[in-house]
Amino acid sequence: MAKRKEGQARSASVDLSQEGVHWDQPMSYGDYLQLEPLLSAQRPGTAEHDEMLFIVIHQVSELWLKQCLHEAHAAAAHIASDRLRPAFKMLTRVARIQAQMINAWEVLVTMTPADYARFRDSLGQSSGFQSFQYRELEFLLGNKNAAMIEVHRRHPERYRRLSEVLHAPSLYDISLQLLARRGFALPDSVVARDWSEPYRPCDEVEQAWADIYRDTGRYWELYELAEKLVDTEYHFHQWRFSHLKTVERIIGQKPGTGGTGGASYLAKALDLQFFPELWSVRTTLEEGAS
Ligand code: HEM
Repeated sequence: MAKRKEGQARSASVDLSQEGVHWDQPMSYGDYLQLEPLLSAQRPGTAEHDEMLFIVIHQVSELWLKQCLHEAHAAAAHIASDRLRPAFKMLTRVARIQAQMINAWEVLVTMTPADYARFRDSLGQSSGFQSFQYRELEFLLGNKNAAMIEVHRRHPERYRRLSEVLHAPSLYDISLQLLARRGFALPDSVVARDWSEPYRPCDEVEQAWADIYRDTGRYWELYELAEKLVDTEYHFHQWRFSHLKTVERIIGQKPGTGGTGGASYLAKALDLQFFPELWSVRTTLEEGAS
């Protein structure tokens, strides 16, 4: 057998003798990351193998939602102060996180209807419908629906937080206020409205986005903002669609644990739009826009 050359030597374990490892430290990895509470927060109600995956995937999604909220609230504050560069960076990060959340469905679909049915009863009436972070993100992006917060009445802190975001301008409202500050004539019904009401699309806003897409050189920053918003919504739709298909694959047309019709309820959300004129403007833009 040929002898190994110098430098090709392999060893079965990493040599730590020359590394300055802090073997005994006052603040450890586990302490900093609070791994003890985090890793003891998975408590399946049954001994069924797949319940752990069901819990972990929800918890991972909630952690990512937390980060999305952190980024999207900060992005909205930057846009409100005319600082678009940092806002773009944050919205890009939101889109990357969304891609992770969409990909997570690929893990969950390894769970069959029979696997799910074995622990389904341990969920009781709990459901993603009660995810207060998901609802906050929807409100922040612009899907205002006051009825949704009623399910949180028994939790005053969550209820207060959701009411606050419901009554504040959404990321889209804030972006339209920016357009108004940059000289686009937008009606009061757009820039000074009751923020808790669902947004109603209007011609002036579509016209403003059309002007921006027709002269991207002149409005480069606003054009970039438009595309960042579209990216966020595009990913949100992909998440909703994958959720719906996963639900159909696992429980078919059975009602949800949260009390809705299940897949039929989730299908309705596919028609929702956060930034309607950013979609409709695409139909009106003519070929050759620069
Ligand atoms: C076996 C897997 C799953 C099933 C069968 C399922 C089923 C459902 C159903 C039927 C609904 C409608 C509300 C109701 O319960 O009546 C719903 C809503 C929801 N689920 Fe899931 N889900 C699953 C996994 C997930 C995961 C992993 C997440 C991640 C956080 C999630 C988040 C949500 C959210 C946020 C809603 C509210 C959607 C809205 O109101 O538009 N679900 N789910």
